[in-house]
Amino acid sequence: MYSSADVLCKVLVIIGALVSASSTKSTFPPKPCDVTIKDDDNVTLNCSRRGIEEVPESWPQQMSKVNNDSQVLITFFNNSISDVTQLAAAPGARIAISLRNNRIVEIQDDAFRNIDKLVYLDLSNNKISGEVLRGEIFSGPYKDGVYSNIALETLNLGFNEIHSLDKYLFQYTPNLTRLDLSNNPIEILDFVTLLALSSATKLEVLNLAKTDINSIPLDAFRGLVNLRQIDLSDNKFTEVPESLSLVGSTLKYLTFNNNPIVELNDDSFIGLSNLIELEVGENEYLEEVKRSTFTPLKRLRVLHLCHNPNLRYISHRAFSGLKDRWTLKEVYLDNNNLSELSPDLMPWSKLEILSMTNNDWLCNCDLADIVTNQEAGTKFKSGEIPYCAAPMRLAGTYITNITASFCPTFDTTFDSTKKKGFTFSSLRPKHVLWSIFSVAMVALFGMLIGLLVNTAKTFYKKKIRGQPIRYININADSSFA
Ligand SMILES: *[C@@H]1O[C@H](CO)[C@@H](O)[C@H](O)[C@H]1NC(C)=O
Ligand SMILES: *[C@@H]1O[C@H](CO)[C@@H](O)[C@H](O)[C@H]1NC(C)=O
Ligand SMILES: *[C@@H]1O[C@H](CO)[C@@H](O)[C@H](O)[C@H]1NC(C)=O
Ligand SMILES: *[C@@H]1O[C@H](CO)[C@@H](O)[C@H](O)[C@H]1NC(C)=O
Ligand SMILES: *[C@@H]1O[C@H](CO)[C@@H](O)[C@H](O)[C@H]1NC(C)=O
Ligand SMILES: *[C@@H]1O[C@H](CO)[C@@H](O)[C@H](O)[C@H]1NC(C)=O
Repeated sequence: MYSSADVLCKVLVIIGALVSASSTKSTFPPKPCDVTIKDDDNVTLNCSRRGIEEVPESWPQQMSKVNNDSQVLITFFNNSISDVTQLAAAPGARIAISLRNNRIVEIQDDAFRNIDKLVYLDLSNNKISGEVLRGEIFSGPYKDGVYSNIALETLNLGFNEIHSLDKYLFQYTPNLTRLDLSNNPIEILDFVTLLALSSATKLEVLNLAKTDINSIPLDAFRGLVNLRQIDLSDNKFTEVPESLSLVGSTLKYLTFNNNPIVELNDDSFIGLSNLIELEVGENEYLEEVKRSTFTPLKRLRVLHLCHNPNLRYISHRAFSGLKDRWTLKEVYLDNNNLSELSPDLMPWSKLEILSMTNNDWLCNCDLADIVTNQEAGTKFKSGEIPYCAAPMRLAGTYITNITASFCPTFDTTFDSTKKKGFTFSSLRPKHVLWSIFSVAMVALFGMLIGLLVNTAKTFYKKKIRGQPIRYININADSSFA
C-alpha cells in the first residue's frame, strides 16, 4: 500500500518535471514570422506554429516593401492566441487572414479595422461564442456617426461554440459571399440568427453542416437571392427541408449527407429546378427512393447517392417526367444495399459516367439489359466494374460478364414467360392449401353431424370418415409442417 503510493508519487514528480520542462521550452522567444514573395505580388506572411499568444503590434520590416497590388496572406495557424487585438495595417489589394486553430475566446471591436482590404477571414477551430461576434467586429472605421462597410467576402466560423448570431453581424459586409458555420452547436436557427443570415444578400455559399439543426424555418432564406450552394450534412433532418424551395431558382449544389432520413420522395426536392449537383450519402436510415423523387430536378447533371448502407430500393419511376429532356451525365450509386435496378429507370445510354460498385447486385436479365443493351457497361470507370452478388453461380463475376450465355434474348416473349412462370408457381401452393382446408372443414362438419345423429352407425360412419382420412393423411405433412 505504502510502496505503491510512493511509486505513484515518484511518477507524479517525474510527470511534473516533464510538464514544467516543456512549458519552459514554449516560453522561449517565438520564431519570427517569415515573409515570402512569389511572382512579385503574391505574398505570404507565415506566423504559423510559433507558439504565439498575442497578435503582434507590427509586421516584419519586409512587409513595407510589399506593393499595394499584391495578394497577401497572413496566417497565424496553430498558435495560442486567445484575444484578437488590433492588427497593424497591411499593404495589398486583397488580404486574407487566418487565425485558424488558436484558442480565441474574445475579439476586439477594432481588431480588423486597419485591414480595409480584408476579403478572407478564417476564424475556424477556436472557442468563439455567438456573443463574442458583434457587428462592430466586421465593420470599417466609424465616421460621421456611422460605421463604414468592409470588403469581406469569405468568413469561416466553423468549429467554434456558436449557438446564435447577432442580427447585425453582417450589416457592414455587403460583399459577403461565402459563410461557413459548420461544426457549431447552433441546434435552432432562431429569429436573430435568421435576421443575420437574410441580411447577407450576396451570400452564395453557405455551410450549415454539423450544426445539430433538424429544421429550417420556411422563410429562412428569403433574403438570399444569390445562394448557389448549401451543405446541410451531419444534421438531424428527417426530411429535406422544404425551405430550400425558396432559393430554388438559384441553388445549384446541394449536399445532404448523414441525416436521419428514411426515404426520398416526390416532396424531397420540390422547387429545386436549377440544381446541377446533388449529393445524398452516408444516410444510415435511408431505405427507399420513391417515385418522382428526382422529377423536380430539371437541370441535374451529377447525382451522388453513395454509402447509404440500407438503401435497398429505387423506384423505376424515380426520374419520371425527365426522360424527354434528359440532363443527367454522372450517376454514382456506390456502396449502397441495392440488388436490382429497373431497365427503364433512366435512359442509361445517355450517361457519361455510371458507378455502382459495392452493392448486392442480383445478376438477372434486367441488369444484363441495362449493362449490355443500354450500354451502361461502357460508362464504368476502369477498375470500377461492379460484381454480381447473386445468383450463387454468378457471385463474384463482373456484371459486364453475365450477358451472352445468360440472357440470349431480351424480347417481350421472354419477359412474359418469365412473369407468367413466376405467378403460376407462387400461387399454386396457396391453392393446394385452401383445398385441403376446405375439405377438412367439410369433413369435420360431417363428423359432428354423424355424432349427433348417431343412427345408422355402420353405414354412415364408414362413408363419411373414408374421405377425410384419405386427404388428411396425404397432406398432413405439408399443411402442418
Ligand atoms: C500564391 O501562392 C500560393 C502558394 O504559395 C498559391 O497557393 C496561390 O494560389 C497563389 N496565389 C495567386 C493569386 O497566384
Ligand atoms: C509556416 O511556418 C511553419 C513553421 O515554421 C511551417 O511548418 C509551415 O510549413 C509554414 N507554412 C508555409 C505555408 O510556408
Ligand atoms: C498544433 O500545434 C500543436 C503543438 O503546439 C500540435 O500538437 C498540434 O497537433 C497542432 N495542430 C495541428 C492541427 O497542426
Ligand atoms: C464590394 O465589391 C465591389 C465589386 O467588386 C467593389 O466595387 C466594392 O468596393 C466592394 N465593397 C466594399 C465595401 O469593399
Ligand atoms: C442489406 O440488406 C439486407 C436485406 O436485404 C440486410 O440483411 C443487410 O443487413 C443489409 N446490409 C447492410 C449493410 O445494412
Ligand atoms: C470476365 O470475363 C473474362 C473473359 O471471359 C474473364 O477472363 C474474366 O476472368 C471474367 N472476370 C470476372 C471477374 O468475371
